[in-house]
This record gives sequence, C-alpha cells and structure tokens, in this order.
Amino acid sequence: MSVVIENIGQLVTFDPTEPDRPVRSGVALVIAEGRVAWVGDTAEAPAADTCIDAEGAAVIPGFVDSHSHLVFAGDRVDEFEARMAGRPYTAGGIRTTVAATRAASDDALRDRLRHLVAQARAQGTTTLEIKSGYGLTVADEARALRLAREVTDETTFLGAHVVPAEFAHDRAAYVDLVCGAMLAACAPHARFIDVFIDSGAFTVDEARRILTAGRDAGLGLRVHAGQLEADGGVALAVELGAASVDHCTFLTDDDVDLLAASARDGAGTVATLLPLVEFSTKQPYPDARRLLAAGVALAIASDCNPGSNFSSSMPLAVALAVRELGMTPLEALAAATRGGARALRRPDVGHLGVGARGDAVILDAPDYRHLASRPGVPLVRQVLVGGEATQ
Ligand code: NIG
Ligand code: FE
Repeated sequence: MSVVIENIGQLVTFDPTEPDRPVRSGVALVIAEGRVAWVGDTAEAPAADTCIDAEGAAVIPGFVDSHSHLVFAGDRVDEFEARMAGRPYTAGGIRTTVAATRAASDDALRDRLRHLVAQARAQGTTTLEIKSGYGLTVADEARALRLAREVTDETTFLGAHVVPAEFAHDRAAYVDLVCGAMLAACAPHARFIDVFIDSGAFTVDEARRILTAGRDAGLGLRVHAGQLEADGGVALAVELGAASVDHCTFLTDDDVDLLAASARDGAGTVATLLPLVEFSTKQPYPDARRLLAAGVALAIASDCNPGSNFSSSMPLAVALAVRELGMTPLEALAAATRGGARALRRPDVGHLGVGARGDAVILDAPDYRHLASRPGVPLVRQVLVGGEATQ
C-alpha cells in the first residue's frame, strides 16, 4: 500500500539528515508500507496506490505526546474551579482519582481511555505515552498498564505517583512494594518507569531506589520533577540517564547546566515542558529561552490527566509554548514532535524524513505557524498513521 500527498503548501519534515531545511515548499510526500518513502518536487512524484490532494495546506509530522495519564475514573473539575479561584495545586487530589479508579470496572476504564485517545488523535497526536499511577495496588497498576498497552506501545509504570492512603503511616513499606511485587507485575506491560518527585509524593532518595529497581528490571527511566519547587529530581534524572525529566517548571542554574551537559552526550535526558499544566494550575510558566540558550534538549507534551491538566491538545500546548514559554513557532513544533520522540527514544517518529513512520497531519491552514496564532481553532484536517487515514 502506498499513498502520495500532493499539492502540499508547506511541508515540515524535521528530517534529521537535513537539519538546515526543516520546512520545504513545492514538494510531495510518498508513504509506502507504512514508512516515508520519498519526499521531493511535486512534478517528479512517483505514482502511488492512492493520492491525497492537500489543496495547498501545511503538512506536519504527527505530534508525539510523551506524557499523559489516561487510565482513570472519576472527575475533578471541582478542583479545577477552585484553582481558578486561587486555591493552589497539590498532589493530594491524586488520591481522589485513585479511589474512583480502583472502584471502576475494566470496561469502564477501557471505554474512557479509548475515548480520550480518540480525542488526542483527532488533534493530531500519532504517538502517545500513557502512564499508570491511579491504581497503586499490584493488581490495579498492572490492570492500568494492560489497558494502556491495548492502545499504545509507549506505556510507563508510575506506581510511585503518591503514597496511597493505606500506607500513609508506613511509606517505606509502600516503596518496598513498588520495587518488589508491583514492579514484577507491571514490568512485562511497561517500557518505562516513572516517579513523581515532590514534597507531596516521593523524595529523591526514594526515587533513586525505585528508578534503580526499574532499570534493573529492564525499564527505561522517566521522572516528574520541579513541578512545584526545585526539588533535586533533575540531578537524579540526569545521573541515572533518564530519557526525560518532566515539568521542569522550577530549576536551579545547576539543573540547567546538568541538562545541557547531558544533551551534549547525544542520548541524554530531555527536559519535557508541560505548559498546559501551568495553564490549568496558574503556576508560573517555565522559561524555555533559558533552556534553549544553554543547549538543553526540549520536548513539549500534554500531561493530560484528571487533576493538574485535563487537556490533551498538542496544538494548544504549542500555542502556549510560543505565547508563554518564549519559543518560536518552529521551536515549539519541533519540541512537540521530534522532541517528544527523543524523550521516548523513538528515532522513527516525530519527523518525516525517508524511513520514518508515515505519521503526518494535514492542517486546515497554509502555514504551521497558524497552530500558534489561532489557538482553540480546529486546524487538524486529516491524520495519517503509518500512511493510513484515521478519520
Ligand atoms: O503530572 N504531578 C503528578 N502527576 C500529574 C498530576 C496528577 C493528578 O493531579 O491527578 C501531573 O501533573
Ligand atoms: Fe504527569
């Protein structure tokens, strides 16, 4: 099976072999057997089984959303309203979702999850990482990851989201459980392990134990750090070679230096910024210019979850990255595609160079910068995954 997309007004390739030419015009794109097979002048495009006329629109790589929490039940919109009225975000609300999730049937969780994934897809997300973290028992965490695996390869075990209420007086026993029976039950369904480092969640020392156990079980590492304060999590993530450290709202100068040094290593730790969280919690936005100036590798992700941010909109995340984080539209789009792919260690997605998976989004706009200048407008016209139209 092959498809040619013709009449592309502007093609954002982010082809890693052509770093000086991220955006092209007057070109066509051919996807064959699920992979980008050819990019070149429209007049020379080879024949394909089907043809899509982009009618002069911009075409971009599908978004790579490297951070979400979509296996849950219940609703916390009351918490959102209270935050908008001035109440601060705390990790405490997570336990509300844990109670609702444990009480839900597999079918209820699966239906909700599939609906949320379809919403993300309709907004151009073609690769989506999904974490557990609202079960917090051996059986409930394994269940969340089994369900997540049904819809994505990018699953992350987050048993260390918060200490559940029943372990409130013996947190060491909970850390033992996460590193022992819970990890053993979850590792077969997960690609990564993650820990939420925060004064309301886990300490750096606890995180070190949990991440090391995960690494020994063959999992890649991710870390939530710096959401509410500079907490030492960035240094730990870099030291352990985590693929990504996420939030990074509060960073010390040393944190920035460590991240920059790790980016120079090539396969280092990506700093993943989550501007929809700042939007939905009224926290200050991180300063992307400070990170870019230092040479830090950046990703933008949604962090869609029922508490700190319930939006899965990568186009809105891009708009906020431009409006509030100081990124150019091209930097923001790169962070939401190639950056996310790097944060997931997936060289085959996040770009449209030859050989990449054929994940492309045809916009209802002639120029990718409209993603930033037209927030809230549905600009995703068509989504292709592996060259197949999905809607
Ligand atoms: O990434 N920070 C920790 N976890 C989520 C929030 C989860 C929740 O509030 O339910 C986050 O923001
Ligand atoms: Fe998160």
